[in-house]
Amino acid sequence: MRRGATKQTPPHQLMRATNRSESDQGLDLSVDLAPNNHRHLWLANPVMIASGTFGYDGYGRGITEDMDLAQLGAVVPKTFTRRPREGNPEPRWFPQSYREASDAGDFLFLNAIGLTNPGIEAGLRDVTPGWSQWNANVVFSFASDSVEQFAEMAVMANQGTGFQAIELNLSCPNVADGSLFGHRATLTAQAVAAVRANTDLPILAKLAPNVPDITEIARAAVDAGADALTICNTMPAMRIDTQSRQPVLGNITGGLSGPGLRPISLALVYQVAKAVNVPIIGVGGILTGEHAAEYILAGASAVQIGSANLIRLSAPWQILSEFQDWIRRSGASSLHQLIGEVRQGLKV
Ligand SMILES: Cc1cc2nc3c(=O)[nH]c(=O)nc-3n(C[C@H](O)[C@H](O)[C@H](O)COP(=O)(O)O)c2cc1C
Repeated sequence: MRRGATKQTPPHQLMRATNRSESDQGLDLSVDLAPNNHRHLWLANPVMIASGTFGYDGYGRGITEDMDLAQLGAVVPKTFTRRPREGNPEPRWFPQSYREASDAGDFLFLNAIGLTNPGIEAGLRDVTPGWSQWNANVVFSFASDSVEQFAEMAVMANQGTGFQAIELNLSCPNVADGSLFGHRATLTAQAVAAVRANTDLPILAKLAPNVPDITEIARAAVDAGADALTICNTMPAMRIDTQSRQPVLGNITGGLSGPGLRPISLALVYQVAKAVNVPIIGVGGILTGEHAAEYILAGASAVQIGSANLIRLSAPWQILSEFQDWIRRSGASSLHQLIGEVRQGLKV
């Protein structure tokens, strides 16, 4: 069953009430991630938390009261699947502590969690209702094995509470066939269309980095009804301990995240921004406000913070504050003045 349509509401009323301080100070960081959807998805600022990296368990465990989620643009808790998943064999990430690694100057982060989650039924019953208390924009992420199951999960999501939009994880490299959809334009289109036919919630389609031509996949997602594109998921990767001669991950291969991913994802965002007309959310290796600014200049309308949360849970608030400083220094009065404003040509 579809959710009932909301009446058209002016943007600033659609924003969560506590999120307005920046626009009140004359700096407008607001952005609508679903301008073509009658529900819209207004964020007070472009800084979001990426799926799977929210708190210690992906669902916010460890987030303390001083970390006010209402101050962020949005939160994307961990992906749900149709059935519960245990996840991959340990070790599931490398280095074991991203915080210690980054202190030591090592930024090659790998994980192969394998979409550990309680399944969508338990998720909608026991987990998502509590999200309403955050007073934040929350995006419900799900992944699926088949087009039919994508449709079924969209129908189920319609009955859920605690979130305002959906992110389709078409691109997880750590489960068998996890990135199947995001690797083919036809499958991407079928998955997005199946969800579009069954919900009017804003749809963010999260794409994989390791495809020959991401613009083809991006266009397929948009033509099938995606309201925005999240670029990108982790990049398939591996490391081997030369002493033991064993792979460092129990799953043998995993996904590269963190600063090593940033220039790759940035180039994809730049290419896609020139190819489609919907908002793009840039993800990959953002540790500072300047990193976020790079994505905005490349054409992203918002950014998601992933691995930085695993270095320190307060990272998104710090990055938001640094990003605000950068916008002020740039002389712009709104985020929109800077989206896609990278200058062409070499510096002389
Ligand atoms: C430990 C871990 C778990 C993740 N789990 C998910 C997930 O459940 N769903 C998803 O769409 N992406 C997941 N991701 C990918 C992130 O959302 C993000 O796309 C990726 O890590 C790149 O951003 P980053 O370099 O800032 O970490 C996960 C990443 C990490 C590091």
